[in-house]
Amino acid sequence: MDKFAMIIFGASGDLTKRKLMPALYSLYRDKRLTGAFSILGIARTAYSDEEFRSYILKELQHFVKAEDRDEEIMNSFVSHLYYLPMDPAKPDGYATLRERLEKLTHDEQPDNLLYYLATPPSLYGLVPLHLKEAGLNTSGSRIIIEKPFGYDLESARELNRIYTSVFEERQIYRIDHFLGKETAQNLLAFRFANGIFEPLWNRNYIDYVEVTAVENLGIEDRGGFYETTGALRDMVQNHLIQLVALTAMEPPAIFNADNFRNEVVKVYDSLMPLDDVDLNEHIVRGQYTASGDKKGYREEKGVAPESRTETYIAMKLGISNWRWSGVPFYIRTGKQMPTKVTEIVVHFRETPHQMFRCADGNCPRANKLILRLQPNEGIVLKIGMKVPGAGFEVRQVMMDFSYDQLGGVPSGDAYARLIDDCIQGDPTLFTRSDAVEASWKFFDPILKYWNQNHDAPLYGYPAGTWGPLESEAMMHEHQTFSLLMSSPLNLESEAMMHEHGAEWTNPCKNLTNTDQYCEL
Ligand code: BG6
Repeated sequence: MDKFAMIIFGASGDLTKRKLMPALYSLYRDKRLTGAFSILGIARTAYSDEEFRSYILKELQHFVKAEDRDEEIMNSFVSHLYYLPMDPAKPDGYATLRERLEKLTHDEQPDNLLYYLATPPSLYGLVPLHLKEAGLNTSGSRIIIEKPFGYDLESARELNRIYTSVFEERQIYRIDHFLGKETAQNLLAFRFANGIFEPLWNRNYIDYVEVTAVENLGIEDRGGFYETTGALRDMVQNHLIQLVALTAMEPPAIFNADNFRNEVVKVYDSLMPLDDVDLNEHIVRGQYTASGDKKGYREEKGVAPESRTETYIAMKLGISNWRWSGVPFYIRTGKQMPTKVTEIVVHFRETPHQMFRCADGNCPRANKLILRLQPNEGIVLKIGMKVPGAGFEVRQVMMDFSYDQLGGVPSGDAYARLIDDCIQGDPTLFTRSDAVEASWKFFDPILKYWNQNHDAPLYGYPAGTWGPLESEAMMHEHQTFSLLMSSPLNLESEAMMHEHGAEWTNPCKNLTNTDQYCEL
């Protein structure tokens, strides 16, 4: 590897300890980080180098899986860490940063200099300008910016203007860690490295598609951040829409960063704009309320008692192009759901005629393909099979591929993969400026609508349940989906659910007047 130095802004924060340091440690352990590299942490907390190293060492014990921990390697890894206490919002510290960097690299320009912005989004516009003033935007540098990139279309455009005035597009890496997940990438291999699926992958054979990313945790201690973010900005405008793009995109003729990202932008440009009627009919937003020993969102630290920030969102999207016209894409995400799972489910059209009886009332007329991103990464195809013995009863069974069969999922997580790509200068799995803007262009009217209509519906759902019942109405035309929405079967991974001990409980379900109960 060329001489490498990395500067992390926001080094005392949550992301650094939870994700970045474990990822960098795993790259180091796998010998992807070698030589005399340095990682310089920057934040306002007053650590010395030694204090920062012991802090990170302690957090690594916590955030690296037991089987991946190696004391000796960890100690050796943290010896590459350094720390500079400074306020990244203020320009004065950047001259010191420059000197510190020169000292660490013995006055030689590192060939490979990586800035990582793990700061609150309010600093995204300031740091690059200060770097430029201090002459730190060298041609060998790259910058990774966390999501959300922008708060709406206008602020995303403004950020793009700032970044492109400081760096070239090839130096700007807008990270979306969902693209670092194995199964997200495998979706491309599944679609484009096999001849049998692509001919079916269109409106003639696919009835609808579901993209789900739900979590069984609340907002943890991120009240301040989440209040101004909400589920749409936190999960939908980036992670979920990326998964839609991978599912819906056309195959690039040659797989490279430009071609791949061109196809992603084409999907965003084809999203059917939502008008005001659709906004109410095609979007359900919710907020978790207290249930059992779980706090409600409004009771969380840093959250306003009357907050109308959504912690759940379900949407129906349409893609108007030759391949997908008329095929709904249902996406949903939520905090405080019964389990954590991320899946894409492709529902194929039913057989035109039903010849066989169904076993246990479970009529397998439509095949489903489930791409599970987490947990237990894998792919499941649901097909109908004859029940052994007399008669001709058919039952749905699963053809199940689990990633473990390929020798296990690489231990480094999505962040390790993406940081490694950035170090190697491969931007394929990072979001380009036009993609960010195209995505915001679609979502911006929704945010504006909510801002202008304070009484736009926001439904409560008890923490630990599957979200507002109103989502079911939206899915009405897809009876299966509506059933699926209200039971763990919607995630298509019954086996997995049982494995994880998930249980379906939806107190809302038993209420006769859901409005009274559910509308916030
Ligand atoms: C982050 C969001 O980008 O993704 C979090 O800010 C969310 O709110 C997380 O919990 C989910 O990522 P993963 O990889 O744990 O599914």
